[in-house]
Amino acid sequence: MFGPRLDACASVDDFRALAARRLPRVLFDYVDGGSYAEETLRRNVSAFRDHDLTQRIMVDVSSVASGVELFGQSLQIPLICAPVGFAGMLARRGEVQAARAARAAGAPFCLSTVSICSIEEVASEAGEPPWFQLYMIRDRDWMAQLLARAGAAGCRVLVLTADLQTPAPRYRDIRSGMTRQLGFMENIKRSFEGLRKYGWTYDVIVRGRPHAFGNLAGVLPPAASFADAWEWIRNNFDPTVTWADLEFIRRHWRGAVVLKGVMCSDDARLARDHGLDGIVVSNHGGRQLDGGRASLSALPEIVAAVGDTIVVMMDGGVRSGIHVVKAVNMGARACLIGRPWAYALAAGGEAGVRQMLCAFAAEIRTVQALAGIPNFGAKAIQT
Ligand code: FNR
Repeated sequence: MFGPRLDACASVDDFRALAARRLPRVLFDYVDGGSYAEETLRRNVSAFRDHDLTQRIMVDVSSVASGVELFGQSLQIPLICAPVGFAGMLARRGEVQAARAARAAGAPFCLSTVSICSIEEVASEAGEPPWFQLYMIRDRDWMAQLLARAGAAGCRVLVLTADLQTPAPRYRDIRSGMTRQLGFMENIKRSFEGLRKYGWTYDVIVRGRPHAFGNLAGVLPPAASFADAWEWIRNNFDPTVTWADLEFIRRHWRGAVVLKGVMCSDDARLARDHGLDGIVVSNHGGRQLDGGRASLSALPEIVAAVGDTIVVMMDGGVRSGIHVVKAVNMGARACLIGRPWAYALAAGGEAGVRQMLCAFAAEIRTVQALAGIPNFGAKAIQT
């Protein structure tokens, strides 16, 4: 009863604690967890702790600017809300609420292929088309239709995620039943738990319908359970994808194309040589290859390999504005955040995500001032 309150949330950890109280366990574990022993997930976060910023003095920081330009779009802060599947189950019409908050903060919102709200709903209800994240599906005709829908909705940036060749098991999701069919008693237990989380039940289950995957209408039955959706993902995500398939994307997409999941300099060079507009240094937030290094650890080698010839962004473990400045200082043009906005959405809907993005923006400005970085256009002072 006397747990954390939204207006008292100061850090991402605070939003996380509030999300844990509001969400049924199965959903909290789905957001919070990583693959296997979660080693890479932990490394993503700890890599930021191991990297120091340098305090600089006697620099005029009376006017600090945090904005950056990306793909012809002005961002007020170098931050993008990363694609998070199923986010519409964290709060009523969750992707729409988060996209509205991102718009207010001047940060792009990237919609997942496996979102609850459709591309069209988010584009019209948030008042701005999102970036669109794509998983390669075996059925290329259906993919061409999906790309046409995203283009018609006004999306200009396509983020192709390449590190889900096969879904990696997450122990927490197996235990909770997120990714397997539940037995009769387990189903009853889950229903009771849903009822105990009455705030979430009223918001999402009662007022947040429909719960179908908006972009997958026509391929997945409307009443598909979580387990059905995972089954569909296992059967339909295309593990044959190679660099040659980028030609298909270029044929069906006129805007910028960003490749997400680059973790070494060889792949970064290949991305540049294949004419991609940007890359995201990412290990899927430690949800795919466990045992790999932290995204932040891979960033310097990748920046050294491709320099300014392609837009380099990163995600994984970014938990504060301080982390954003660290990553930008190391050569990233912008960071993506996944779990932080998902926690904030579960904690407080649109208001929660707004509050969290405002906190990030304020922290970025403060740290810029204290580290002597009046703007991100100027060459950042190396740490
Ligand atoms: C993700 N991520 C993800 N990525 C993607 O390309 N498509 C998707 O549908 C999803 N879904 C998804 C769900 C959840 C619950 C999480 C936490 C993450 C990965 C996401 O875009 C991003 O790469 C990571 O979340 C970044 O790490 P942090 O910020 O969560 O540490």
